[in-house]
Amino acid sequence: MIDRKYPNTRLRRLRRNSNLIKLVSENTINSSDLIQPIFIKENLNGTESIESMPDIKRFDIDSALKEIEEIVESGINTIAIFPVIDPEKKDIKGSEAVKNDNFISTAISKIKDEFPEIILIADVALDPYTTHGHDGIILNDNVDNDLTIEILVEQALVLANSGADIIAPSDMMDGRIKSIRSALENANFKDTILLSYAAKYNSKFYGPFRDAVESASSLGKSSKETYQMNTANINEAMHEVALDIKEGADIVMVKPAMPYLDVIQSIKKNFMIPTFAYQVSGEYCMLKLAINNGWLDSDVMLESLISIKRSGADAILTYAAKEISKEIIKR
Ligand code: PBG
Repeated sequence: MIDRKYPNTRLRRLRRNSNLIKLVSENTINSSDLIQPIFIKENLNGTESIESMPDIKRFDIDSALKEIEEIVESGINTIAIFPVIDPEKKDIKGSEAVKNDNFISTAISKIKDEFPEIILIADVALDPYTTHGHDGIILNDNVDNDLTIEILVEQALVLANSGADIIAPSDMMDGRIKSIRSALENANFKDTILLSYAAKYNSKFYGPFRDAVESASSLGKSSKETYQMNTANINEAMHEVALDIKEGADIVMVKPAMPYLDVIQSIKKNFMIPTFAYQVSGEYCMLKLAINNGWLDSDVMLESLISIKRSGADAILTYAAKEISKEIIKR
C-alpha cells in the first residue's frame, strides 16, 4: 500500500458530487451488456402473467414480436427465448424438441425475419419437452448422459437451422459441447456461437422459472443433483469450464449469479474468455417482490447487476434487462 496518511489522503475528495463519483467509477453497466430472457407459449392467445415472477409474462408469438420491439427500443440487443410447450406434445424422450418445424423454431425464424439484427440465444435442454421435467433421457432411473447427448445434438441443429445466433446448452451433460460443436461444423453452421452453461449449479433459485415454463409439476420432488453442480463447489466449476473451452465453447456462463460471484471472478481471472452470468428467476423475484412491496428501493436491482459486473461478468442475463436499460438511458 502507498504510505500516505490523513490529511494527505482524504478518499472523500472524490465523492464530493455525483459527477466526480462517476468520473472515477471502476465499473459501469451498459444496455449492450444486458440480455433479456422471454417466455413464449404454444397455443396461447396474447399474454399471461406468471404468478411467481412479478412483471414477467408468457407471450404468444405475435405479442412476443411486439415485446421484442419494445426491448430493442429500450436499447437491448440480445434476447434469450424459452418455450412453454403444449403438454400434449411432451413425452418421456422430449421428441418434440428435435422436430424441424416445432414451436420454438417457428418462433425463432419469425423473430429473425422481423429483427435480423437482434442476437438470439436459444437453450438446448429437454426439460420443456419431457413429461418428467428432466433435461435428458431417463434410463434405469437415471438421466443417461450419452443417450441425452444424441438428442441434444439434433435439438441444437434444429435451433441453428431456424436461425438462432447463439446455442446455449443448459443441460450439464458431460461432453455435449464437443458433440454439438462437431455436428454444427459438419452441417456448415460454422458461425453459430456456443454459449455453455458451464458452471450451472443445482440451485433452488430456479423455482419460479420452472413455474414459468410449466415444468415444475412434471419434475415434482425429483432433483437435478446427478447432473447440475453441487452448490458447495468452486474447483469443480474450473474443471467444467476448462473442459467446455477445450470442447469448443465460445462463451461460458455461471448460473445463478449473485450467490456465486466468487465463481464468476475466478473463471474470468483464470480463463480470460467471455464470461456471462445468469441472474436467475429466484434472484429476480426476491428483489422484485421486495421492491413492489416498498420494502426495498428499486435501485437494488441495478446494485445487484453492478455487483455481478464487478465480479468479472461481461454480460448478464436478467429478467430486469428492459427495465434497467430504460433506467440507464435516463441517467
Ligand atoms: C433449463 C433451464 C433452467 C433455467 C434455464 N434453463 C431451469 C433448470 O435447470 O431447472 C433456469 C433459469 C432461471 O431460473 O431463471 N435447463
